[in-house]
Amino acid sequence: MKAGILTLDDFDYRGQTVLLRVDINSPIDQATGALANDNRIRKSLPTIKELADVGARVVMLAHQGDTEDYQNLVSLAPHAARLAELLGRPVGFIDDICGPAAVARIRALQPGELLLLDNVRYLCEEVSTFVNYVQLTPEQLARTWLVRTLAPLANCYVCEAFAAAHRYSPSLVGLAEVLPAAGGRLFIEEFGALADVKDNPKHPCVYVLGGSRIADAFSMMKQVLGTGAADVVLTSGLTGEVMLLAQGYALGEPTERLIGDKGLTPFVAEARALLATYGDRILCPLDVAVDAGGRLELTVNQLPSDHLLVDIGQRTIARYVEAINAAATIFVNGPAGRYEQPISVLGTDLLWHAIAAAPGYSVIGGGDSVAAAARFKVLERMGYVCTSGGGMVRYLSGQELPVVSALRRAAQRQATR
Ligand code: 3PG
Repeated sequence: MKAGILTLDDFDYRGQTVLLRVDINSPIDQATGALANDNRIRKSLPTIKELADVGARVVMLAHQGDTEDYQNLVSLAPHAARLAELLGRPVGFIDDICGPAAVARIRALQPGELLLLDNVRYLCEEVSTFVNYVQLTPEQLARTWLVRTLAPLANCYVCEAFAAAHRYSPSLVGLAEVLPAAGGRLFIEEFGALADVKDNPKHPCVYVLGGSRIADAFSMMKQVLGTGAADVVLTSGLTGEVMLLAQGYALGEPTERLIGDKGLTPFVAEARALLATYGDRILCPLDVAVDAGGRLELTVNQLPSDHLLVDIGQRTIARYVEAINAAATIFVNGPAGRYEQPISVLGTDLLWHAIAAAPGYSVIGGGDSVAAAARFKVLERMGYVCTSGGGMVRYLSGQELPVVSALRRAAQRQATR
């Protein structure tokens, strides 16, 4: 048991039918339909292998894309092929989830056999339940079609999908409500790494927050500054720009228009409130880079600019690197600028290299941040790389993760049996 959740060590899976929920949601190459990255598949392998090795009949459920990211809402057939390749053993696949064909295939599984069902998000109940207008209670999720059909075929449920732990859905919460349930190896590992950053970091603890998802950065900032988990927050990207507006700097028409068009203006007031309370612990850009046909650096006192802000400047980078080097814990989410473009790569490149080389323990998460680390070839040197994005942000913002709660309820049920 870890953090109130049963682990693989708490069950004997020999000969049992296990419903294993993994998160192998992966970027897809739109031109070829092939997997563009198999990081999440690789991270799920130890649990899959462990279960198959002890002779469990392993039925894997997973999602790919969603209805807002329709281009990626595709079949899991390529995932099954990649799993088989990486595991070096057959992985069955069926283009069904809980219809009669899937049920028959599950019933026919032999000990040690692996089967991947198709994309659970082909089912309306799996997607609609986590969209704001329909939110089912755990009891209602336990009565969904997927749970009613699959749970009776299995002895237990293992959740390996920490990256989707923020989703109220049948395959994540519903199954844990009705079956003996445990967290898989990756689930427990990732939850533990983030729990340390949130509740028990070594100090000084520095949060490096950038990117364009301002709502995420602000909700994390409020929480970790409030609890004292973070000693210092280094702001960059659009988050840093909103901080500059809150400090009273005019950024110039193109940047302010972009912030307005993205609906981010309300964050300026929030930034002001945060600066009023925690001003000495929030570092803001001292200089910026603008796109003037080439990279041009300006101190914040030289603003506003007629050119778009695209990165932090070198004085800011030097100041942030100093804080990173002094930190015992470094949490990273959101690049410093548009790192895909040469004109604005410098901030993220230098910060990410500094984080990789820093003596402190680093934890990095979120699609863009991890992709940037891969691009700068520093991924291997990060302390811990999370597979989760949205789930990680919600957890660090102090929100309850429904799948964690469901697994804890399952552990309590088990204890009273
Ligand atoms: C992710 O990509 O963050 C996870 O797979 C969860 O996906 P979701 O945010 O679409 O639920």
